[in-house]
Amino acid sequence: MSPFVLELLDASHDRKSFSSGLASVDDYLKQTARGHTDKGVSLTRVLVVADSMAPKPILGFFTLTPCMVEAAGWPEVPKGLPRNPVGAVLLGRLAVDASMHGHGIATRLLALARRIAAGSLLATGGIGMVVDAATVELVGFYQRYGFRSIAEDSMRLFLPTRSLITDP
Ligand SMILES: CC(C)(COP(=O)(O)OP(=O)(O)OC[C@H]1O[C@@H](n2cnc3c(N)ncnc32)[C@H](O)[C@@H]1OP(=O)(O)O)[C@@H](O)C(=O)NCCC(=O)NCCS
Repeated sequence: MSPFVLELLDASHDRKSFSSGLASVDDYLKQTARGHTDKGVSLTRVLVVADSMAPKPILGFFTLTPCMVEAAGWPEVPKGLPRNPVGAVLLGRLAVDASMHGHGIATRLLALARRIAAGSLLATGGIGMVVDAATVELVGFYQRYGFRSIAEDSMRLFLPTRSLITDP
C-alpha cells in the first residue's frame, strides 16, 4: 500500500510550512488555493503521508481547472478544429516541498493529475491537458512525460487526450 495519499486541499493541511523554492507557487498555495478550491474555481490536491495528523505536512500539490484554448496548429490536435476556443484541462500549478525534491514526488503527482484530467476529459469532452512551464528548464521536465510545446520556444505545453488515455 502506498504510504502517500492524495487529498483535496482543506483546513487540515499545513499550507504555511510548505516551501518548494518557487515563490509564486508557494504564495498561491498559501493565499489563494483554498478559496479557489472551496468555490470550485479550480481544485488543488495535496499529497500527504497516509494517516498524518492535522496540521498535515504537504509533500506536494497540483491544481487543475477547466480552460478554453485556441489550439489550431498545436502539435497532435485533431485537424479541422472549430475557430472558437475549445475545452481542455489546465495543470495550473505543480510543486513539491524542497525537503522532498529528487524523490520522485513530482513524477507521482503528474501521474495522478493525468489520471484525473483523463477522467474529466472523457466525461465532458476536451482536447487534452495544458501546462505553462514556469522556467525554461521545466519545459524539459514536462517533455519527458509526453507534453509538447505548442510552438517553438513556447513555455506552454500540451498533451492530447488520446495520449492521456493510452500512454503510461
Ligand atoms: C520541479 C519540481 C516539481 C520537481 O519535483 P521532484 O519531486 O523533485 O521531481 P522528481 O523527483 O519527480 O523528478 C523527476 C525528474 O525530473 C527532473 N527534474 C526535477 N526538477 C527539475 C527541474 N527544475 N527542471 C528540469 N528537470 C527537473 C529530475 O531530475 C528527475 O529526473 P530523473 O528521474 O532523471 O532523476 C520541484 O523541483 C519543484 O517543486 N520546484 C519548484 C516549483 C516548480 O518549479 N514547479 C513547476 C511549475 S511549472
